[in-house]
Amino acid sequence: MKADLIVGNIGQLASCSSPTGQKRGREVQDVGLIENAAVAIAGGRILTLGSDSEIRTRHTAAEFIDAESKVITPGLVDPHTHIVFAGDRLSEFELKIKGAEYLEMLAAGGGIISTVKATRAATEGELVEGALKRLNKMLACGTTTCEIKTGYGLDTETELKMLRVVEELDRTHPIDIVPTFLAAHTVPPEFKDQTDAYVDLICGEMLPAAREWYAASHFSNAGTPFFCDIFTERNAFDAGQTARLLEAARVLGFGIKAHVDQFTNLGGSRIAIENGAASIDHLDVISDDEIALLAESDCVGIVIPTENFSGGKTQFAPARKLIDSGCAVAISTDFNPGSAPCPSQQMAMAIACRYQKLLPAEVMNAATINAAFAIGVGSTRGSIAPGKRADLVIWDANDYRQIAYEFGRSAVDTVIKSGTPVYRAAK
Ligand code: NIG
Ligand code: FE
Repeated sequence: MKADLIVGNIGQLASCSSPTGQKRGREVQDVGLIENAAVAIAGGRILTLGSDSEIRTRHTAAEFIDAESKVITPGLVDPHTHIVFAGDRLSEFELKIKGAEYLEMLAAGGGIISTVKATRAATEGELVEGALKRLNKMLACGTTTCEIKTGYGLDTETELKMLRVVEELDRTHPIDIVPTFLAAHTVPPEFKDQTDAYVDLICGEMLPAAREWYAASHFSNAGTPFFCDIFTERNAFDAGQTARLLEAARVLGFGIKAHVDQFTNLGGSRIAIENGAASIDHLDVISDDEIALLAESDCVGIVIPTENFSGGKTQFAPARKLIDSGCAVAISTDFNPGSAPCPSQQMAMAIACRYQKLLPAEVMNAATINAAFAIGVGSTRGSIAPGKRADLVIWDANDYRQIAYEFGRSAVDTVIKSGTPVYRAAK
């Protein structure tokens, strides 16, 4: 059969495929390894994969890429980012080194709020320009699909501006984007000490406006999901406000996500899961009861080791326990200017292996197939399987375990997006 492209002479192909949906338990230790492999691609999608000799006998193709015995994995999926923003948080970086606490700075009108001020003042063009640079960094680290959150506007006008920026990024950059509406990132200064009134504004005005934007956007046309998220935390939103907002979002048709248990357990995990959340994110202080609830649900637990590393913390989300309890676990960078200025899923994987005691196979599945399910695109992305989008990374490695083993540089050799090479590392 005729293909557009064959990628052959692959030393190890880690397909990360999962016929049954999210990977859990022992399945997470299996990356679907094929040695001496090849992949045939047609129309931007995977046609077949198998042994090099078999694929080359069965298919002819106009183009051939020689993987030179290197490793191939699915394009990485980053299921939690905040990469649309203006300004920087470099002074805060120094303050944190000197001992300032993240939530204290937020309460004092710094942290997220300082990025809100800069983002409100920026033009759409400036926000697009800054975010494109960040997407390029992510692509160079092997990410081919990512989620992006709003949440540095915190008023209707700026939140919609951020959504338009996200749409423009998806139109112009090879990385596929899934949008998330995070007006409930924190309470804006004009609503100081009136959090309930701000939640009223979100539910009454901002969520319907965001749905209207989505309905007219190319995301809705393409069947890409649209999520609503909230930061359930001290100095942000409490359990009652979380329940109110997530219910309103669910009724309006949003997919659900929540930042929960990052510093304080306010019961947000249960509320999010009960509202059908696709993911709950951070989970540093999740309880045993909530872990049991997560394990029984389709919700993915996203852990964010880069946030702990960046904060100089020695405690991490209990990812080992989550997997051993039967939860579906994904991993993300949380790429943002405050708590995790990191574009690299490879770095997140490296930290998770050392500090969360996950195996290289487990972090690979967590950064591909389970990450794709966490953002509602598990049926089309996140693994190398027939019919799926041909998003592949050729790594400068001969063994897939090397990807999480090495740190301090990107081990990416080539990134292929929908069957087309879109990034090659300088030799
Ligand atoms: O996931 N926790 C809240 N939100 C982000 C940080 C955003 C920021 O500090 O600008 C997070 O860590
Ligand atoms: Fe976040």
